[in-house]
Amino acid sequence: MTHAEIRTQIQAAMRAAFPQAEERVAQFYAMQQYQLGWRDTQLAPADVDPGKLLRPYLTLLACRAAGGDPHQALPLAAGIQLIHDFSLIHDDIEDNSDLRRGRPTVWKLWGLAQGINTGDGMFTVAHLALHRMSDAGVPAEVALEIIRRFDQTILTICEGQFLDLSYEGNLAISEADYLAMISRKTAALIAAAAGLGAIVGGATAATAQALFAYGQNLGLAFQVQDDVLGIWGDPEVTGKPFAADLYQRKLSLPVIHALQATGTEGALAQRYTQASINDEDVRVMLDILDQTGARGYTAGVAEHYHRQALAALDAANGEPATIGQIRAITQQLLGRQF
Ligand code: IPE
Ligand code: IPE
Ligand code: MG
Ligand code: MG
Repeated sequence: MTHAEIRTQIQAAMRAAFPQAEERVAQFYAMQQYQLGWRDTQLAPADVDPGKLLRPYLTLLACRAAGGDPHQALPLAAGIQLIHDFSLIHDDIEDNSDLRRGRPTVWKLWGLAQGINTGDGMFTVAHLALHRMSDAGVPAEVALEIIRRFDQTILTICEGQFLDLSYEGNLAISEADYLAMISRKTAALIAAAAGLGAIVGGATAATAQALFAYGQNLGLAFQVQDDVLGIWGDPEVTGKPFAADLYQRKLSLPVIHALQATGTEGALAQRYTQASINDEDVRVMLDILDQTGARGYTAGVAEHYHRQALAALDAANGEPATIGQIRAITQQLLGRQF
């Protein structure tokens, strides 16, 4: 199957999880579908960027690598992507972000209250997607185990978001604090995408464990690179505003590194604690990050976790051609620009 066909199947499984909506509540679902790229700002049907669909793609591949039928993993793949999009709807509120995938965020268009409720709706539709596992032939005891681990994963994401928000304004955050945060907010879902996909595919405990470890390390690398893009990404390519993490004064890895070099009294620390910042402040911050080699350092950390991910993949005793496909995707993600 081509990549385009797989993307179509994932999105069809996501669509199947939505209920038939009565006219009175049609907008509630339409706002969710705006987030997914299926509707435009007027809520008319559309077909725009739904994101990379990396996580559900990994789920299907991990299932096949474990010797299973990827069709049985479609409900899980759909649920994983819906939870990802749920987390983005709420993340954009939490981060005060105006732009996602090059379009206005849900809360910017329909307000904070509807934004929260739209996310809640998608959280629930994600669960409905998982409940279709039995229809796809997943044994009941496996389905129950997947649902339990899925919910544990979502709780871990919320822990990560809690830490991320609680770090804002705290210049004492260490790299260990940072890793504890990103392993929850980002790596946990990518680990679940691969590991749970393998379980649906009937993986042995050792293979499932190897794919969890693979996803966890890939997730760390993925978020570290997201931090590079949050400062130096090209808005035309990322679909997010210029230097958003600096304007938002996120304690991302490049900043933690530069703060260690310049101290809590330095010019960067000062800009991270003053009441508000302007474009000139951001220019100064970018200079300091440049002088402290923050970009190269951060890219090196991403490479480290990439290597760890590939090592974990090598330890997975899976179907070789599919493991090869997972390796190829992993290599494409190194140094990604969006
Ligand atoms: C963005 O995830 C949020 C992070 C966890 C870094 P992606 O980069 O996978 O976003 P989309 O779905 O492709 O837009
Ligand atoms: C996103 O983290 C993580 C989750 C949504 C759980 P960020 O806030 O760093 O990601 P972007 O940059 O907004 O995509
Ligand atoms: Mg964000
Ligand atoms: Mg965030």
